[in-house]
Order: sequence, then C-alpha cells, then structure tokens
Amino acid sequence: MDSTENLLTRDVSTIWHPFTQHGLGRSLLPITEGKGTRLRDSSGREYLDMISSWWVNLHGHGRPELAEAVADQIRQLDHVQFAGATHEPAVRLAEQLLEKANLAGRAKVFYSDNGSTAVEASLKIAYQHWVNKGTPRRLFATLRGAYHGDTVGAMSVGQSSGFFDAYGSLLFETINLPVPLVWNGFANEQGTNEALLQIESLLEKSENLIAGLIVEPLVQGAGGMRFHSAEFLDRLCSLFQQRSIPVIFDEVMTGFGRTGSFFAFQQTSAIPDLICLSKGITGGILPLAATIASNRLFDSFLGSDFSTALAHGHSYTANPVSCAAALCSLELHDRTNSLEQVARINRRMKQHLELLASHPKVENPRLLGGIAAFDLVTDDSSYSAGAGRKLAAKAQEQGVLIRPLGNVIYLMPPYCTSDEEVDMAFRVIANCLG
Ligand SMILES: Cc1ncc(COP(=O)(O)O)c(C=O)c1O
Repeated sequence: MDSTENLLTRDVSTIWHPFTQHGLGRSLLPITEGKGTRLRDSSGREYLDMISSWWVNLHGHGRPELAEAVADQIRQLDHVQFAGATHEPAVRLAEQLLEKANLAGRAKVFYSDNGSTAVEASLKIAYQHWVNKGTPRRLFATLRGAYHGDTVGAMSVGQSSGFFDAYGSLLFETINLPVPLVWNGFANEQGTNEALLQIESLLEKSENLIAGLIVEPLVQGAGGMRFHSAEFLDRLCSLFQQRSIPVIFDEVMTGFGRTGSFFAFQQTSAIPDLICLSKGITGGILPLAATIASNRLFDSFLGSDFSTALAHGHSYTANPVSCAAALCSLELHDRTNSLEQVARINRRMKQHLELLASHPKVENPRLLGGIAAFDLVTDDSSYSAGAGRKLAAKAQEQGVLIRPLGNVIYLMPPYCTSDEEVDMAFRVIANCLG
C-alpha cells in the first residue's frame, strides 16, 4: 500500500468529514501542498483553488508573510484567556477593523473563533439588548434562503437554506422574509417593491416581537449564491432601523473584499448595528471571528452586576496568533491592492460569463466583485443535485477545483488569481458543460 492509499484508508477508519454523506463512499483528495492559487495532491497533480478553500483564502496559499507573522507571535505570546486580560494584537486588530468599517469610536469588537460563533454572539447581543432594556423580544427576522452557520442559533436563522430539516423541532422560531433575487440584466424592481410592501405590513403587525433582522448582505452564499440589490437592502434596513430594531449583517463570506468593496455594507447606505466577520479575516490560515457591535448596543449591557453582561466567551477568544495573522492579512490587502485585484478578476470573469450566458445549460448568470455564479439548467436543484457534482468531478480531472451548491456553479477565487488562471477555470467549465 503506497502512502496515499494508506492515508485514505486511515482517514476512512478515523474521520467524520463535514457536510459529507459517508454512506456514498466518495473519494477524497489527498492534498499535500498549497502555493498561491494552487493545491497539489500526493501524486503531484495541481488544482486551481477556485473556491478559496471554502471562501477563506484571500492572498493565496503559503504566503511567507503570514507564516512569519504567526511564528513571531507564537514566540512572543501564544495564548492567554481574554476575560480579565488583553494584548496588543487583539487591540490593534480591533482598531484596524473599526477603521476599515468607518466605525472608529462608534462600535466595539467582540471576538470569537468561527463564522457560526460570530453569528451566535450577534444574535445573543441583539436578544439581550431587549432583555436589558426590560422589554424582551423573542423573534429574529431572516431572509428566505439564508445560511448563517451550523450551531443551533445560526441554524435557526438559516432554517430556510434547507440544510437543517433534520433539526426542525430543535430550532427556535423565526420570521422568514421574501428576498427579490437579481442577476445580470434583471434588476427585479417589481419584486423589490412587492417584497418591501409585504415586509412593511408584517412589521406593522409584529414589530414588538422582533429582536433583530439578520441578513447576508448582497449575496446569500451557501443558499446558492443568491444576489439581491443594494437598493433592496437599504430600504429593508431602514424599515427595521426606523423602528430601532437592530440589523445584523453577516459578512462572514462577503467581508474582506469579496464583493468588490472591503465590506459589502459599504456598497449600501445602511450602517448595520452588528457585523459578523470570520473566514477571510486571517487571510484564510487560522480560525478567528469578530462581531462588531454599535456603541448603542454595547452601552445597553453596562450595569453594576453581571446580570446585564454578555455571557459568552470561548477558550480561544482573541487568540493572539490568529490576531497576528489577521493584522498581517490587513497589511497584505494594502500591499497587494486587494480591491484592485478583485476588480481585475471581476473584469475578466465578466467577459467569460457573458460568453457562457448563451449556453443552453446556463441560467441566471451573476457577478459581484470576485464572485461569479450561474445556475445549471437541470430538473433537480437540491443541494445534492447530481449535475453540479458531475461537472465538478470533470473539472477536477482537468485541474480546477470547484464545489457547486446543488445546481449552482460558482467561482470565488483568491485575489492573487491571474487573468490566465481565470481563463483556464472558465475554459474548463465551458468544456465540462459540453
Ligand atoms: C454567511 C455565512 N455565515 C456564517 C458561516 C459559518 O461560518 P463557519 O463555517 O466558520 O462557522 C458561513 C459559512 O459558510 C457563511 O457563509
């Protein structure tokens, strides 16, 4: 048995993988190396990582700057609990995140360690804000098709993604709002007006029950790269904020340049009360998350005993090594002009998407920042739809790694992806479409 076979056998006997039906016995890629946009397997074959390793990678794999920042930080201070202690990397990172969000002096940063916990913290903050005011409210409003992570609160607000049907009775009740989808050449103004009218009338009835609104701004990711307009988002947020209902922007996927601006909310005139960040925060090399909360919310937790404090914290909250990686990643954004790279990738993907749009198997092509997506015409649009999976398997054979969401094919490449690599990815996809 060679060492790859051995690894795969050992994996099968020891490991339970995420979002995987082990009963299907699908093969795994034994990855040994990552450099730039490319991942290499144990036989030396290379794959273009066109999904940024589950949307975390920004500057490419194996960046020496990140490796050095992490090593230096471990030698200085590896970890200390973040209740009753603080450290330079956490404070500097908070300052810089607030600066990037134009929220310096207006908000605070609460750290955790993954996207789901960033969301849990935001829900708890919005919920307890009302408890602390003495007027508890129990319901969260969510957008249809939303996904916010896999912990119980995050699943509750993401029930309509369809991933969590098995947990139905475990999840808390939410109010599900319509979302007018848009794609290239379809601004959906009528759908937008209709959705907002429905939402307004619902708010008139249930306003006093609603603790918060949570949305993935501009792009609903795991639910199928579903896009909505900045105009819809602006008007939606003002309906809630006029009524002092906190608005949570889950920027776990959209943050750090993915949609073309540093944060997606910067393409709108909305200023969310809470912002959830994770994934790209460390450039994609270590787990870390931040929930940015307005001073108005923070102040509602102040008191003279613990009863109004936020009872939330993780062992690795604000891990200094992750914070050092995040600080280095922010420097890399500046040094590489990351937003210009995203704009360049956008221009290249636009050309390809325009060509693909006339293919009979391609529907609803859409593009925002560094995210390109289309629906594959098929009878089955469920997450486990076979058509997307078959296309991905063929693309993998030709050296391009994608992971369709059901029949939704998308690319979300790292920002160091060259024009030629974008060309290759689209060539392979066009080839696989037949
Ligand atoms: C918008 C959004 N929120 C939250 C999460 C959960 O993040 P994590 O997988 O780090 O828990 C994800 C993950 O894909 C996401 O896309």
